[in-house]
Amino acid sequence: MTTTGAGPTGQQPLKVALLGHGAIGSVLADRLTAGAVDGARLIGIIARPDVAGSGTPCPGSTRPESTLPGTPRPGATEPGPPHPDTSPEPETTQFGETPRGTPTATAPGGVPVLDLAEGIAAADVVVECASVAAARELGPEVIAAGRTLLVASIGALADAATAAALTAGPGRLVLTTGAVGGLDALAAHRQAGGLRDVLIISTKRASTLLQPWMDDAERTALERATTPVTVFEGTAVDVIDRFPRSANVAVAVGLAVGDPRAVTVRMVADPAATRTVHRISGASDAGAFRAAVENDPSPRNPASSALVPYAMLSALAALARPSGRFA
Ligand SMILES: NC(=O)c1ccc[n+]([C@@H]2O[C@H](COP(=O)([O-])OP(=O)(O)OC[C@H]3O[C@@H](n4cnc5c(N)ncnc54)[C@H](O)[C@@H]3O)[C@@H](O)[C@H]2O)c1
Repeated sequence: MTTTGAGPTGQQPLKVALLGHGAIGSVLADRLTAGAVDGARLIGIIARPDVAGSGTPCPGSTRPESTLPGTPRPGATEPGPPHPDTSPEPETTQFGETPRGTPTATAPGGVPVLDLAEGIAAADVVVECASVAAARELGPEVIAAGRTLLVASIGALADAATAAALTAGPGRLVLTTGAVGGLDALAAHRQAGGLRDVLIISTKRASTLLQPWMDDAERTALERATTPVTVFEGTAVDVIDRFPRSANVAVAVGLAVGDPRAVTVRMVADPAATRTVHRISGASDAGAFRAAVENDPSPRNPASSALVPYAMLSALAALARPSGRFA
């Protein structure tokens, strides 16, 4: 059994810094502060520069996917042009009621608020749970500093240059299983000669699939539709720019099978959906793969799944205490 190389060995706790304190990060902060992961300790939350007090708006921040109430649009099978969402995020502030631009020393629970350089210096593991843009723009700095980076925004790896930077070392990149499972079996099928006909169908509440790039007609149609509607069909690489908050799972499946371009993604808006459902299928010379995961929406962010922070805690547990068992 080897250690992770991510942090200290022996009795030293794994020092964890969070990059992102929203739906996922706030659960991670609460659970880590409560001692939920044996051998891991939360040492700080890395704030957006505008919150930490540098006065520089963070280039990695993104506007969240809309959460307006609504239903899907009929016949909406032609997506609009790619629209990478790199605008400042106006709706969400970190650390509860802390207003954007207010220097903050601690988050709720007394957790220190750090800037990126401080977080990298102090942590063994930086946990990204911010945005695809933040993972793309800030993740390489963590890796270059030799730290372990645990990533939620896996969609960032759909970009080849980002994937190269995040895997260049000396730090180690760890991907959460996030909102799905079975990625290990998909990777095994890949070893067995590669998967064919890989398809992921993600069905979500229509309201969580509204996008800033949609025009009024598309938005209205989506809001008024009464039956499930396919809003996107294409490769895992193509989907992430259009649905940056909803396609991390598709890119994760693409990475597991070895080629995000070989994965067909169908994004379905369902006005009756109470859960987010991901159905994944494919076949190889070793057999076939078929799985379905049903996730409750995060109570804090309905575009996010309630399961994800717990997947990340599981990954941290494995890093903190390599044990030869599922964490
Ligand atoms: N892998 C998966 O299966 C999976 C599932 C759900 C969500 N995600 C991804 O995880 C990420 C976080 O999701 P969430 O639901 O917690 O989002 P959220 O919007 O609730 O929270 C994100 C937080 O990160 C902060 N943030 C943004 N940019 C930052 C930066 N540059 N520096 C510091 N903080 C920054 C925001 O202010 C916000 O508080 C998203 O990219 C989402 O797409 C992945």
